[in-house]
Amino acid sequence: MAEEKQTATLIFGNKKLEFPMYSPTAGPDVIDIRKLYAEGDVFTYDPSYTSTASCESTITFIDGDKGELLYRGYPIEELAEKSHFLEVCYLLLYGDLPTAAQLEDFEDRVTRHTMLHEQMQYFFRGFRRDAHPMATMVGVVGAMSAFYHDSTDIGDPWQREVAAIRMIAKMPTIAAWAYKYSLGQPFVYPRNDLDYASNFLRMCFAVPCEEYEVNPILSRAMDRIFTLHADHEQNASTSTVRLAGSSGANPFACIAAGIACLWGPAHGGANQACLEMLREIGTVDRIPEFIKRAKDKDDPFRLMGFGHRVYKNFDPRAQVMKESADEVLSLMGIENNETLQVAKELERIALEDEYFIDKKLYPNVDFYSGIILDAMGFPTSMFTPIFAVSRTVGWISQWKEMIVDPSQRIGRPRQLYVGAARRGYVEVENR
Ligand code: CMC
Repeated sequence: MAEEKQTATLIFGNKKLEFPMYSPTAGPDVIDIRKLYAEGDVFTYDPSYTSTASCESTITFIDGDKGELLYRGYPIEELAEKSHFLEVCYLLLYGDLPTAAQLEDFEDRVTRHTMLHEQMQYFFRGFRRDAHPMATMVGVVGAMSAFYHDSTDIGDPWQREVAAIRMIAKMPTIAAWAYKYSLGQPFVYPRNDLDYASNFLRMCFAVPCEEYEVNPILSRAMDRIFTLHADHEQNASTSTVRLAGSSGANPFACIAAGIACLWGPAHGGANQACLEMLREIGTVDRIPEFIKRAKDKDDPFRLMGFGHRVYKNFDPRAQVMKESADEVLSLMGIENNETLQVAKELERIALEDEYFIDKKLYPNVDFYSGIILDAMGFPTSMFTPIFAVSRTVGWISQWKEMIVDPSQRIGRPRQLYVGAARRGYVEVENR
């Protein structure tokens, strides 16, 4: 537990209560209100957890005002430039950057777990061909607990480790197969001589009738997308994984819950929604019309890929993503791509607009990622599954951290009940 530094006093009615306060390594101080209900007979009310720390964690830190994102203390920009995804996975899972030998061993373990149980194919084949790949992923990942019984005992550290490796290794195969199934093309099996990102690209785009050469620039861009999305502290899907895990549910079930949560357009579904919005805008001259709609209180329309609960200055991931978009589009010879032009102009106009300045709304990670994925040849329906592949390591690292946290108990929020008070039952003929 963080060191207790001072106390906070809460006075209400005729009560005066003292609570311990902790100073974290970074970020605001925290008031420990766990005894509030027992001693004060009141709850706190914070429906979307704006002011609530749900756990103690050592994995990821975000400074929303500075626009800083650190994985185990390392800035995301530096990791995106100098590292690669599996090294970042090691860092998130075990706390430190690996030595060369540790990395080799880790890469070997992940690479040798990429195949799926052959019978899982029938699971895919049970879905409609036009199913959204996220729907398929929620089902298939949940079903992993039916195929890998030997890594579902959460009390056994070895089984937790095996489950973590399995999940990181198999998620690209699951996402790629969900895509292949939707196309009516044969499943492409993983290949051990390829790195993580290249293997994923090949499983998505290769067909058995011809050789598929992975372009190293696209593979690097894919790897960077994985790295930028790998973890983001206690966001909605991660908190879902932790909450599911707090009941003792097996890791595959918990990750399936995380995937379901990620799917929403306010979270991981925003990358699909953002590209669809940019296409709908279509040309630069239509931008003012959409800016006007985004500002209109009576219009539910929002600029997708804009805004963040925590970042109130800029999203550091978006800046790396923008550079990657330029790189990939120029490689493909489509740097004049209309969607990229619309995105850049939209960003420029919005960042000068008082509404967006006042509300501290900036492009987030999803603003440019869709443009890159589109240029690589992915349909919009694959954008969120790719986010899920990347975030799996974050979910599993946070889940593992939670399991060994001595203060962990089942998560059980309370409520501010405003429904009917106790009343008598009325027989149907008298209603
Ligand atoms: N366009 C227009 N107005 C916006 C937007 C937007 N994208 N985002 C927030 N606002 C306004 C909102 O209407 C509200 O105005 P008011 O104070 O007048 O009621 C104010 O800004 C605060 O918004 P909020 O919804 O209370 O903020 P939040 O912290 O609950 O929501 C958010 C954060 C990311 C869900 C939201 O900004 C949003 O819906 N953005 C679009 C979806 C998106 O891009 N999501 C991806 C997030 S990053 C990746 C991830 O986490 O998965």
